[in-house]
Amino acid sequence: MTYVDAASAPARKNGQIKLHGPAAFAAMHKAGRVAAQCLDMLAGEVRPGVTTERIDRLACAFGREHGAWPATLMYRGYTKSTCTSVNHVVCHGIPNEKPLRDGDIVNVDVTFIVDGWHGDSSRTFGVGRIPRRAQRLIDVTYEAMMRGIASIRPGATTGDIGAAIQTFVEGHHMSVVRDFCGHGLGQLFHDEPNIVHVGRPGEGIPLKPGMLFTVEPMINLGRPHVKVLADGWTAVTRDRSLSAQFEHSVGVTDAGVEIFTLSPGGIDKPATSAD
Ligand code: MF3
Ligand code: CO
Ligand code: CO
Repeated sequence: MTYVDAASAPARKNGQIKLHGPAAFAAMHKAGRVAAQCLDMLAGEVRPGVTTERIDRLACAFGREHGAWPATLMYRGYTKSTCTSVNHVVCHGIPNEKPLRDGDIVNVDVTFIVDGWHGDSSRTFGVGRIPRRAQRLIDVTYEAMMRGIASIRPGATTGDIGAAIQTFVEGHHMSVVRDFCGHGLGQLFHDEPNIVHVGRPGEGIPLKPGMLFTVEPMINLGRPHVKVLADGWTAVTRDRSLSAQFEHSVGVTDAGVEIFTLSPGGIDKPATSAD
């Protein structure tokens, strides 16, 4: 980012959806790659007995070694480099000293700022051997995200993304969380537009080349309802059912869509072993 760019970039949401050019796409690929590489590294660290605090420290160190700053650190009072959401935690789980246990599932969400641009991605990992229903939830959640992304092209709408996700998930008798959504990003962490993970084809905002946003569906085995715990962050399923999430940062192109956070190691969907 040049000083001129920095001076002209709005520091807050202003209701306008920004359209970005090739330089921004190159910068987003760079930021997205650090997030994806970090998740590749963490895939080898998630196992029974490891704490989410350790995962958080590893992610922070990885970012610093790659010229990246964790966007969540000191963001609205949040003090960690990652969100680690275990089992019935839907999102924004705060890393802590409790060891992961065999059979848990954990979503690790990282956002790195590189040269002023944000790369935001998450994957859900299985810890040791996980139950079949947890495996099914992870499979459906990953496929739902990818179906949402596959619907993106100029002229499609945000409703098309939501419809692709909702139809697939509800067809598997699972539910889509409504309370949290994907978001525009770039030089801001959370920008316009909101990407809701439910919807009807043709509704919502028309997609245009140059838009940058995340697709990050949270899917529950039970009902969609969530509540936020007293810490002000941790969102859990009201019925305590299992919840999973995947997230990619993407850009709309003339041809369709580019994913900025693809795994260099080809492990976008982590290997799991199920009973
Ligand atoms: N990375 C999350 C997202 O996908 C946001 C986390 S904000 C935090 O948008 F403060 F909870 F870390
Ligand atoms: Co996000
Ligand atoms: Co995220």
